Amino acid sequence: MTTTTRWGIVGPGRIAENVVRDFVHVPGAEVTAVGSRSLDRAQDFAARHGIGTAHGSYADLVADPDVDVLYLATPHPQHHAVALDAIAAGKHLLVEKSFTATVAGAEEVVDAARAAGVFVMEAMWTRFQPAVVRLRELVADGAVGEVRSVQADLGVAREFDPQDRLFAHELGGGALLDLGVYVVSFAQMLLGDPDTVTATGSTFPTGVDAEAALLLGYADGRAAALLTSLRNALPGQARVYGTRGWVDVLPRFHHPATIVLHRAGAEPETITLPPDGTGYSHELAEVHEGVLAGRTESAVMPLADTLAVMRVLEEAAGQLGVTFAEAPRTP
Ligand SMILES: NC(=O)c1ccc[n+]([C@@H]2O[C@H](COP(=O)([O-])OP(=O)(O)OC[C@H]3O[C@@H](n4cnc5c(N)ncnc54)[C@H](OP(=O)(O)O)[C@@H]3O)[C@@H](O)[C@H]2O)c1
Repeated sequence: MTTTTRWGIVGPGRIAENVVRDFVHVPGAEVTAVGSRSLDRAQDFAARHGIGTAHGSYADLVADPDVDVLYLATPHPQHHAVALDAIAAGKHLLVEKSFTATVAGAEEVVDAARAAGVFVMEAMWTRFQPAVVRLRELVADGAVGEVRSVQADLGVAREFDPQDRLFAHELGGGALLDLGVYVVSFAQMLLGDPDTVTATGSTFPTGVDAEAALLLGYADGRAAALLTSLRNALPGQARVYGTRGWVDVLPRFHHPATIVLHRAGAEPETITLPPDGTGYSHELAEVHEGVLAGRTESAVMPLADTLAVMRVLEEAAGQLGVTFAEAPRTP
């Protein structure tokens, strides 16, 4: 029985540099190749991380027969074309958040994945943090009663630079796709798909959103109040309110070590469960185990949830006058 998954990294940039270091915490998951638009960058990354094969194009990596799973770490609009090519080549995929730049692009990737029967998951690492797993268990056990609302914020103060991925329209810039995806995915994990989305905010001169406040509404009166920003720092705090108490998810909630359970009428309970490595190991393990087990989706980060989150983000961006497009295939 195979106990190994062979991984290829697409786009050796900032996040790939961090994620690659967490493979050591996932026995059996081995990075065997890396692909860059530049052979020099691929070779440099491969040499620094002890990776055997460096490809000077994404197409060559997608065609590599010694790779089972691709980790897509390019900017968001650059996920779609590589994902479709990889699925056509029978590769499994871990796709960085945001999954794509558009709902239509996400649907296309999800449809192709389901037709091909490969494992595909959005790299929403928050859901796999041990403290967040414990939060879900407590909620399922009724520790705070019925969850009625969620608050979350995530923001950083960044100097405007129209060339940077965070601000460039063609690279899917803006707060929503980079940071808003975390607050929306967190609320969606606890409350499900919202019935209404109301957004207010502002934009940068490049036409991407700079900051956004989102109110997600549910027909039964539940709600999520969410903030995201590239203009100013926000603490990265989340709170989950139930009918019999609440849970504080201490900063930064998208990869927390500590949650504090406030059961009604009881002293607060502090629960600390740090991640292995930097915190990416848990999502890597989910894909590794899923692929070996012959699954096509994660039960913790299913594709339906990714689509629901993309719909909220696209609706919110649209209310701010912001629209995105998927990038064409990288030559
Ligand atoms: N989970 C997390 O904690 C986390 C943190 C940061 C970012 N992310 C996600 O990871 C993805 C990449 O973010 P990042 O900050 O690592 O981005 P980045 O460093 O700006 O770009 C990553 C790589 O993408 C490749 N790329 C492909 N097409 C490109 C284009 N048209 N312009 C620029 N680069 C292009 C480049 O590699 P080559 O040219 O060498 O191929 C680049 O080094 C995003 O989807 C982001 O949301 C996740």
